[in-house]
Amino acid sequence: MTEKDFIATISNPSSIDSGKYTWKTPSNIALVKYWGKKEHQIPENTSISFTLDACFTLTTLEFSKKKGDSGDFEVYFEGEKKDDFKPKIATFFERIENYCPFLSDYDFTIHSRNSFPHSSGIASSASGMSALALCVMSLERSLNNKMTDAYFYKKASFLARLGSGSACRSIKGSVVVWGNHDEIKDSSDLYGVEFSDDIHENFKNYHDTILLVDEGEKQVSSTVGHKLMFGHPYARNRFEQAEENISKIKEILKSGDLKAFTNLVESEALTLHAMMMTSNPYFILMKPNTLKIINKIWEFRKETNLNLCFTLDAGANVHLLYPENEKEEVNSFVVNELIQYCQNNHYICDRIGFGAKQV
Ligand code: DP6
Repeated sequence: MTEKDFIATISNPSSIDSGKYTWKTPSNIALVKYWGKKEHQIPENTSISFTLDACFTLTTLEFSKKKGDSGDFEVYFEGEKKDDFKPKIATFFERIENYCPFLSDYDFTIHSRNSFPHSSGIASSASGMSALALCVMSLERSLNNKMTDAYFYKKASFLARLGSGSACRSIKGSVVVWGNHDEIKDSSDLYGVEFSDDIHENFKNYHDTILLVDEGEKQVSSTVGHKLMFGHPYARNRFEQAEENISKIKEILKSGDLKAFTNLVESEALTLHAMMMTSNPYFILMKPNTLKIINKIWEFRKETNLNLCFTLDAGANVHLLYPENEKEEVNSFVVNELIQYCQNNHYICDRIGFGAKQV
């Protein structure tokens, strides 16, 4: 499919004057990371993620036919009016207006909340933008009742990508790939696709415990970070490595080889941060406690031979990934040895989820 296929076809334009839609959409954690993009939110390399379950955004989009020229929107976050959230959402609306021209016929009120604390350092753009994209698609579907489910979800992911790249992986499925890759069926740079190959039992119910090392706002936004991959001395090699890692992880997910999983996922996390440290301007998002936790995990693995591994996103928090049958040992390890490195002892127990839901 090309961009043109996502321009809305409206079969019953005046069918709806007002209403509201609510979607609950998950966050996701990338195993092979997206870091570097071209114009129009096209990724430099393919990425793959686990969809989360407990970390989600709940968004209601209320709409009513525009009276006169007003054409506006208001944003409420956790019940409070938030004008400082408006620029990001205005940019999103601008980016999608060609694909959803019907939006200009309505005024909107957006009510949103996250299951995780806003200042937890957990990126909310993936779940936030995917929720909004799905609400917009619900409106579009009510104006075009011939729309198929497959198109609905594909376009939702397409729109979410325009809001925030990683958001296109927060629509449908437990394991999602974004980016055109020869070995991934139907994959595209324009939207995320559910990983449709067999996934080994070892990955069913996989856990992700998020250790909140630093609960502040990020020092460097992902958008700025992505830009620093332009002219980065190692960028080309990094993008090639990511494509190779997609081929590798495809086999790992099939074979259930947890040692190979650990090796690939940890290498991806450290490579992401190595790219930040070797860009210009350079920056470090890990904190001393991030490194303490990583070393503790390596010791724990040596002692127990279990399959606990870590990954990082663009921040200091550590995601602990481990299989269902190791949860007891890992939980005691977290409580006894790792919580001390979390700000205010905060951590979140999550696991692999199934995607967005209309509520
Ligand atoms: C490190 O999706 O937040 O989490 O497209 O500019 O909104 P924008 O960036 P964003 O970048 C996510 C980067 C990452 C890796 C990943 O999720 O793949």
